[in-house]
Amino acid sequence: LWTTENIIDDSVERIREQVGSDEVLLGLSGGVDSSVVAALLHKAIGDQLTCVFVDHGLLRHQEGDQVMAMFAENMGIKVIRVDAEDYFMDALKGEADPEKKRKIIGHSFIEIFDQEAGKLTSVKWLAQGTIYPDVIESAGSKTGKAKVIKSHHNVGGLPEDMKLELLEPLRELFKDEVRKLGVALGLPSDMVYRHPFPGPGLGVRILGEVKKEYADILRLADHIFIEELRAADLYDKTSQAFTVFLPVKSVGVVGDARRYDYVVALRAVETIDFMTARWAHLPYEFLEKVSNRIINEIPRITRVTYDISSKPPATIEWE
Ligand code: XMP
Repeated sequence: LWTTENIIDDSVERIREQVGSDEVLLGLSGGVDSSVVAALLHKAIGDQLTCVFVDHGLLRHQEGDQVMAMFAENMGIKVIRVDAEDYFMDALKGEADPEKKRKIIGHSFIEIFDQEAGKLTSVKWLAQGTIYPDVIESAGSKTGKAKVIKSHHNVGGLPEDMKLELLEPLRELFKDEVRKLGVALGLPSDMVYRHPFPGPGLGVRILGEVKKEYADILRLADHIFIEELRAADLYDKTSQAFTVFLPVKSVGVVGDARRYDYVVALRAVETIDFMTARWAHLPYEFLEKVSNRIINEIPRITRVTYDISSKPPATIEWE
């Protein structure tokens, strides 16, 4: 009988058998899959696990600190946090093309990860959060975004001479099983049931050139949107919701003065498979509240819009 407890016990036993007393390395992103792998491996092999968490500066509000609080402080897992914000911002400077931005972020990620991994000379295994649908996907299509996504996410570019063996303990599981495992392993359920977040992070939610200034403004606006969705009990009724930064200036009035500042778009969709999606029909009163809060609380934003495009023909992300 495949209960969650059985799956955990079985996985723990298999991991111990596989790795023995070897050291294991895991790239922790803060996403569900790598988080569940971290919790599972920690249960199985404790201190033989070291995680590397690359903070590219394109994460959500306080996300980097939250990852550290949960895994390092609460669970006692060894996590090396690499603050690579400057590195990524430099690499992205002057680039406005969406696919080139994705490539830069992906390559930079692998570079930073490899640098850190190269310092851990006693490591024998590289753990990855590959789940069953990833296995199917990479067996199928040879082109398209899915492939690119996985190559960014499940780091594929370690130095030849490292010769790490792959450890993929979630390889046979579907997403809902992975989530149940996460909860049973003690991860908070709002973390485990979070909306998906793309590997390139806010890099594809800032239209055109990425700047730290834009990312900082966007993080605040997005945080208000998500906080209000949770407060209104709408978070779990949408499949994915986020804020997009538009680098155009629009007029607003504060007191007697006219000011010209940035615009954000709120995006929320309902979908089963993310291949097609309907824009979420969020209540007007709710949207009004979010818009007022964003404009009143964030000085650099003068205007908030709501995206009413469905997929197809629009995509969920704006880039
Ligand atoms: P689109 O925008 O193509 O998004 O309708 C479908 C789903 O994929 C996510 N997405 C990405 N995930 N790297 C990722 O890891 C990417 O480059 C990327 N682009 C889109 C998107 O958030 C949505 O859930």
